[in-house]
Amino acid sequence: MDVYEAVRSRRAVRGFTDRQVPRDVLERVLSAAAWSPSGSNLQPWRIYVVTGGPLGELKKRAGERVAAGDPWDERQYEMYPADLKSPYRERRSAFGQERYSALGITHEDWEARQRAAAANWDCFGAPAALFCYIDRDMGRPQWADLGMYLQTVMLLLRAEGLHSCPQMAWSVYRKTVAEIVSPPDELILFCGMSIGFEDVTVKYVRTGRAPLAGTVTFVEG
Ligand SMILES: Cc1cc2nc3c(=O)[nH]c(=O)nc-3n(C[C@H](O)[C@H](O)[C@H](O)COP(=O)(O)O)c2cc1C
Repeated sequence: MDVYEAVRSRRAVRGFTDRQVPRDVLERVLSAAAWSPSGSNLQPWRIYVVTGGPLGELKKRAGERVAAGDPWDERQYEMYPADLKSPYRERRSAFGQERYSALGITHEDWEARQRAAAANWDCFGAPAALFCYIDRDMGRPQWADLGMYLQTVMLLLRAEGLHSCPQMAWSVYRKTVAEIVSPPDELILFCGMSIGFEDVTVKYVRTGRAPLAGTVTFVEG
């Protein structure tokens, strides 16, 4: 698979089969992703890969919290600015529209949307997940390094025939994740990522993108 194809075919997949992801494939992907760039080569990503019994236990505990209506853990970073301005606000609502219309859920059906969102904490059925942490002392440039690393992982997963879904949703139950992976105190959970083989029976709408001129300016001589 060439890089363009990997980029084009990567999307946030929200339905996986229970087919296991071999450990050697995960090691191959994560060994290659280690070559991602980072400022001064700090390599600030700290990754925990969770599969099998521990992932089952994590999903169970998170599911119990969802069912009990447990409040989310206090935040260690803000997912979005409190007052999302244009054009980001419109992009966010277009995304919500695309995501829920694919599932036949209307904007008004709050309960159905909550149920769909809850699938996050079942990793959308995926048999493998990784959790990406960063040292709390790190600044914005190092958080950006995490993004480069995670995208590299997702593209390499495509090369292995696998799909993924990055999930900030896991940060809201970060204490439950910590019960399973026992990270040192200095680490903050940025996001999880579900990993597995796509369940092609799950409907989705491909999310759109702004036209090139909406995000790119050529300054030419
Ligand atoms: C850092 C990050 C966190 C995300 N968190 C979630 C999440 O918690 N749950 C989810 O379903 N999708 C999540 N997504 C997926 C985005 O919604 C998705 O990437 C975006 O809508 C574009 O769609 P595409 O990836 O399918 O092209 C996240 C993506 C990123 C990059």
